[in-house]
Amino acid sequence: MVYKIIWKSFIMKLCTYFIVLFSMRIFAFSLSEKEHNNIYSYNRPLPKEITTTNLVFDPALKPFYHGVASGDPLQNQVILWSRITPDTDGPIEVKWFMSKDPKCTSILLSGSIITDQSKDYTIKIDAGPLEAGTVYYYKFSGLGRESVIGRTKTAPSKTMEALRFGIASCANYQQGYFNAYAAMSARNDLDAILFLGDYIYEYADGGYGYSKSVNRGHEPKNETVTLSDYRIRYSFYRLDPDLRRLHQLHPFIGIWDDHETANDSWPGGADNHNPLTEGDWQARKYAGEKAYFEWLPIREQSVQGKIYRTINYGGLCDIFMIDTRLEGRDKPLGAKDTTSSAVDTVLWNSPNRTILGKNQYEWLTQSLKSSKSQWKIIANQVMMMPLAGFTNLDSWDGYPAEREKLLRYLKNNSINNTLVVTGDIHCTWASDLPVTPRDTSYKPLTGEGSVACEFVTPSITSANINELQGIPPNTPQTKAIAGQLKFINPHIKEIDLDNHGYMILDLQSDKAQADWYFVDSTTTRNKGEYFYKGYYTQSGKNAIKAAVYNMPTLSGGPANPDELPLQIKESSSEHLLGIGNYPNPFINNTLIHYAVSKYAVLSLIVYDILGNEVLKGFMNVEHQPGPYVFELNALHLPSGTYSYKISSENQIITKSMNIVK
Ligand SMILES: [Fe+2]
Repeated sequence: MVYKIIWKSFIMKLCTYFIVLFSMRIFAFSLSEKEHNNIYSYNRPLPKEITTTNLVFDPALKPFYHGVASGDPLQNQVILWSRITPDTDGPIEVKWFMSKDPKCTSILLSGSIITDQSKDYTIKIDAGPLEAGTVYYYKFSGLGRESVIGRTKTAPSKTMEALRFGIASCANYQQGYFNAYAAMSARNDLDAILFLGDYIYEYADGGYGYSKSVNRGHEPKNETVTLSDYRIRYSFYRLDPDLRRLHQLHPFIGIWDDHETANDSWPGGADNHNPLTEGDWQARKYAGEKAYFEWLPIREQSVQGKIYRTINYGGLCDIFMIDTRLEGRDKPLGAKDTTSSAVDTVLWNSPNRTILGKNQYEWLTQSLKSSKSQWKIIANQVMMMPLAGFTNLDSWDGYPAEREKLLRYLKNNSINNTLVVTGDIHCTWASDLPVTPRDTSYKPLTGEGSVACEFVTPSITSANINELQGIPPNTPQTKAIAGQLKFINPHIKEIDLDNHGYMILDLQSDKAQADWYFVDSTTTRNKGEYFYKGYYTQSGKNAIKAAVYNMPTLSGGPANPDELPLQIKESSSEHLLGIGNYPNPFINNTLIHYAVSKYAVLSLIVYDILGNEVLKGFMNVEHQPGPYVFELNALHLPSGTYSYKISSENQIITKSMNIVK
């Protein structure tokens, strides 16, 4: 979301309010971004507790370094995903296999697909026909080697006794370790992961969210603007072992939020996009969307850029994945290019103002009305609950008429059991949803008059309140802010502003419960987690209550995750990985994305088609373990086919590239 302008002012308002009430000190914070050159100067020492292989890449996974993934399960189909990294460019055939046994020995379904540079060598298969509600295992083979084995599960066709989803959002690599992903991976009782956006962040290395103590920077070093940038950023995130592990073990059902393009994006622009220095917004938006569809296991839609869709889980739930960012959102009020700092209240309250867009609103309301499932889950980006006193114009609070219209639609059509699950705001909230915040028919003590419930998941790593203020978590200051907010917003039953983690949504026919799990730390890599609190709603009540216990782990889960190793037990002496160069073909400049898993002295040289050396990229440069992006300037080279070699003492990578002028 928001953090540069609205969230900052939101927090500052909170703090100011708090000062008045409690005479407390306000903590200044700075999010200024450092300037970086896009060169090979990635020289951060590795944190001591992380092994080189874990942090950078595992040579034994060659050529499927980015692991495997699955997503968008239907009753008879599921998306399977991987990425193959070739040593030389060109179309590559990849075979895929599905089985019901964890070792993938008895193959039930298989096929092959060709991938190439046009898809960034990603592989996506809509595999089927499959049996409903069934655990499957899958793997890929290509270039003479096999991938790790992944696990997935199709949606059920019948009404299940129970379903359980892991819910997550907001994973800024620069902010910390993805320990919450590791904790979710260790669970054996999830049907799928609902990912609510901010899977990547667009900021430059050392920019928003960068934590000195954690010392995990971004690649590429510049802010992502072009398709090449977004592809490298996804590739970089997907080398993270905790994220790879989560994808390997659970199907994903995802939506993007703003940071998959740029902060506070909407169809016509973004807070963090300057057309004068960063070019055409539509080109950037297209690049972000294309890379998302390449790198995430999402089913291709009939219309480019459309992600709103329904996933049915039999009679127990329908999941409506919505897009409040790029589909139809009107320009946010208070956007930085707005001439006046005063909010136009007429526009703000206009009945025509929309966050969904006309088509999506029609689809959502019709889908809710026609749903025959017990629970209707709206997987949503920005917070829907009204937040009195501190207006967040980036959320549904900036679009009050459409929120009221949607909630009144639920009431007028007697649509019960709608649960909104939300990310974006980096902390934990649980709320009743009355038709309007002023609705006198709503009784906060009993929940009577509420028409839906909202559960908000905290971030995986992205900064929450205490971090934005530079104070330790769980101090009396932030607890008091949360208490005050609840006091003036009686429909909001739970607020935690300090912790990172994920949410579990447990569905049964008579009850739905959200349980929050927080991780012990994001600054060191470990799997420690604890149950924080749970809130539940009973069928037909549309209002939440605090739970006494978390929902126990379900028995009868699929195979033990330990049966599916993340790493292939095969040693390899390779320590150099050439991930790709972007763009290719190119005119003058291309970004060469590579990695080393142990200290090496490297040279990069470009050769013409006859094998003559034509350009030195760099010579005998020391590299600490890490990922690198080197910008090659070939301004003086004519059109043609070239190759480049990255060489160390005992390994050479050769890749081709084309210059077209
Ligand atoms: Fe976020």
